[in-house]
Amino acid sequence: MEGKMLKGIQVAPVSKPSTRLLLLLLMMMILTVNGQDVGKGGIQVMEFQKDGVASWWTVAEYQGKLDPGRKMDSVTLCGRFKLYFLHSRSSFFQLWDRSLNMDAQLKGELWLDRVRPVIAHRWNFQPLEVKLRTYRWYHICFTYNHTDHRYLTYIDGELVYDMTYDVGRQIWGDYARLGQNEELMESYSGALSQARPEPCIFVLLPEK
Ligand SMILES: *[C@@H]1O[C@H](CO)[C@@H](O)[C@H](O)[C@H]1NC(C)=O
Repeated sequence: MEGKMLKGIQVAPVSKPSTRLLLLLLMMMILTVNGQDVGKGGIQVMEFQKDGVASWWTVAEYQGKLDPGRKMDSVTLCGRFKLYFLHSRSSFFQLWDRSLNMDAQLKGELWLDRVRPVIAHRWNFQPLEVKLRTYRWYHICFTYNHTDHRYLTYIDGELVYDMTYDVGRQIWGDYARLGQNEELMESYSGALSQARPEPCIFVLLPEK
């Protein structure tokens, strides 16, 4: 890992651990681009694989401590994204329990005609009536409510998918990252951002 690290993005776990509904909020923001603060209030953008070449180097790793003992029943995963190039899938977020090697505790995956939240190792495709386009910003929120087992997916604030399925498990992890998945061709090519003045806890590893 050489070169300057760019401070990036994103926030994370969860509001109150005491409540049954725990939220994992993906609130992306980049404090530093090429080593320079964009400044408070500015919208900052983290880019992955701008040239479309799949590379392990485009990843932003969560730098805070994730406690695998902290189990989530319900989650919300949100982010702003702009897809550039498509590989076999575009996985922009991953929460992994490395001690049990459960790599799909929580994932956000994108295509153009469908999206997929992966929750506690349950993969559920969600076809989209209106296809996504590349080089366009969208805001997406995946939610799962463990009480009524509902999945709701919002794109730009509109409900685009609603299904009921009991994942039957809790969600936890000790490692989270943006821009990668288990296979290189499942990695993410595009931009992620969020204009939120939150503390920065991801670090973007630079491309070689
Ligand atoms: C989850 O579902 C229950 C039962 O329908 C509902 O009472 C609760 O408000 C839902 N939680 C959220 C955050 O929507």
